[in-house]
Amino acid sequence: MNAGVMDREAAAAIAEIRRSGLRAPARILFGAGGLARAGALARELAGGRPALVLTCSALAAPAGAAARLGDDLRQQGVPVETVSGLDQEPTVAVVDAAAARARAIQPGLIVSLGGGSVMDCAKAVAALAVNAGSAAEYLEGLGHRTQLERPPLPHLAIPTTAGTGAEATRNAVIAAPGQGGKKSMRFDGLLPAAALLDPELTRSVPRAATAAGGLDTVTQLLEACISRKRTPAVTALAHRGLRLTRAALPVCCDHPGDLAARSAMLLASFLSGVCLANAGLALAHGLAAALGALHHVPHGLACGILLPATLRYNRTACAPALAAALAAFLYPDAPAPLTDDVVIDRGLAALEALQRRLGVPADLRHLKLDERALQRLAAMSMGNSMSGNPVPMDPERTLAFLRTL
Ligand SMILES: [Fe+2]
Repeated sequence: MNAGVMDREAAAAIAEIRRSGLRAPARILFGAGGLARAGALARELAGGRPALVLTCSALAAPAGAAARLGDDLRQQGVPVETVSGLDQEPTVAVVDAAAARARAIQPGLIVSLGGGSVMDCAKAVAALAVNAGSAAEYLEGLGHRTQLERPPLPHLAIPTTAGTGAEATRNAVIAAPGQGGKKSMRFDGLLPAAALLDPELTRSVPRAATAAGGLDTVTQLLEACISRKRTPAVTALAHRGLRLTRAALPVCCDHPGDLAARSAMLLASFLSGVCLANAGLALAHGLAAALGALHHVPHGLACGILLPATLRYNRTACAPALAAALAAFLYPDAPAPLTDDVVIDRGLAALEALQRRLGVPADLRHLKLDERALQRLAAMSMGNSMSGNPVPMDPERTLAFLRTL
């Protein structure tokens, strides 16, 4: 597979998204070197006003990307202000500080250049730039504001990692220290107006982050296929993403400069975001959210640890859907004439082999969680993702599952 083939695959996937009417950014640009198109796109979206660019630190960003982006916007006549250093998952304080900057500048466009954390921060800032209050007031299960009075500013999302697919989703995960850990700000208007997917930007992602992000993508694609909120359109798109992942993820880890593999994983990541935004997720994501909040396990790593065990737990409740999804993962070129049970057995074995190859643990023993910690974890796992799990979950069932890990 080469990068040109991936460009055609992306065009076909985008056409399928449009045909099926799935919720996704109105503008989707895919292709190596696409960062050079950001300026023209920003000029269209900014309505003659400045752009506020949110990005990570110079060390965390691809070399020179933020400077190139800024130059390109200015050349297109779009004044640029920048908030950088957004390397960690955003907190309420970080989002509020960036929002204060936005309220002072009154930009016409928010641009994010970074990973899921930067894009999530930018979604919240796009909303708070034109709506009153702190981010905390809009968080699910915490804040009292349940709607946005004004539509958020347009947001141009430019991912520099393949993993969360945050450029295609309508929620922003924000940490509220001392107020219950991580929560989501979730509104339809938080969906970015445009996603610019340039695989060149992901070539410098280190191995561990590449592996974790890739496992997050695979988990999102598989969970969208078995979620109780799944639809035929989401399933077809998720299968398309899964067909890209099995060969490409190890190549991205072992040969980080391989543009075709990086292209495949960036496209799969984006498709996983579209799928989760339209069909929700399941048990692995319900638990990963709590593991992140309570024990600071990075999201992609938590997904990678939990994926085989959670699928095994769910298999009888969703066997045909799970078998079809794992067949797309295992046999991307042509489906094999096998029974569902055989495909699931082989798929779970392949996921466990992928875990080992990428150096991801297969259980939670390294966290040394006692019974009390497991109980807290089970209680904290009942978020939005868990509501889509094929086996209906409550804290007792979740605790019983956790004891098996
Ligand atoms: Fe995820």
